[in-house]
Amino acid sequence: MYDPRERLIVALDVSSAAAAQKIVAAVGESALTYKVGMQLYTAEGPQVVRDLVSSGRRVFLDLKYHDIPNTVGSAVREAAGLGVHMLTVQAAGGSKMLRAATESARDVNPALKILAVTVLTSMDEAELNSVGVHAPVLDQVLRLGALALAAGCQGLVASAQEASELKKLGKEFLIVTPGVRPAGADHGDQARVVTPAEAMKAGSSHIVVGRPITGAKDPAGEAKGILEQMCGVAR
Ligand code: C5P
Repeated sequence: MYDPRERLIVALDVSSAAAAQKIVAAVGESALTYKVGMQLYTAEGPQVVRDLVSSGRRVFLDLKYHDIPNTVGSAVREAAGLGVHMLTVQAAGGSKMLRAATESARDVNPALKILAVTVLTSMDEAELNSVGVHAPVLDQVLRLGALALAAGCQGLVASAQEASELKKLGKEFLIVTPGVRPAGADHGDQARVVTPAEAMKAGSSHIVVGRPITGAKDPAGEAKGILEQMCGVAR
């Protein structure tokens, strides 16, 4: 049987390294991978990543790179040097940019997973239209997903709703799904949420969970409950 901890990512959406370390200590052995996003990285810089890596944790660096190919390739090189395990790029940056990212990763650390973000879940069809994309959201998700995989990305960030459609793109690739809430939990500001079991069923390879774990009185207990739900084991 697989270890569900391989598939749970805890989002460290806090503004200081001290707060992040407190969460990591409270979660303990219940999670192996932590997401460092724009907030924590902007506040604390790369040292927070180095510290997590040197304490044996895996880091998912979620900075959604989107720039000219040379700049993104160079940034990926630096991230790979920090020892991150996964990172995000915007698929809308196009094929050359995505290739620059995957080639840099391959040069420095072939195990680094490059994940592409397709359409932000905060965008609906009207918003897509307003930026010049005249297509249903799902069509654009599938178009960008196919582009990213063809450029060598190892995975995609996608909602569970999108995951089942994206699976049809065929190959073996990762699908990382945020907006996951344990059964019966507060939804916070997430509008379309799925449970851990639903995400697994839809074909997500990983789930990202933030506040239900980081804001819990007992983060380790909460994480364990989520791991059980991922396995389909009743609590
Ligand atoms: O606290 P919560 O579980 O809602 O955190 C979810 C994490 O996933 C946050 O870091 C958020 O930025 C990220 N995310 C998301 N929805 C997306 C893409 C990323 O919630 N569509």
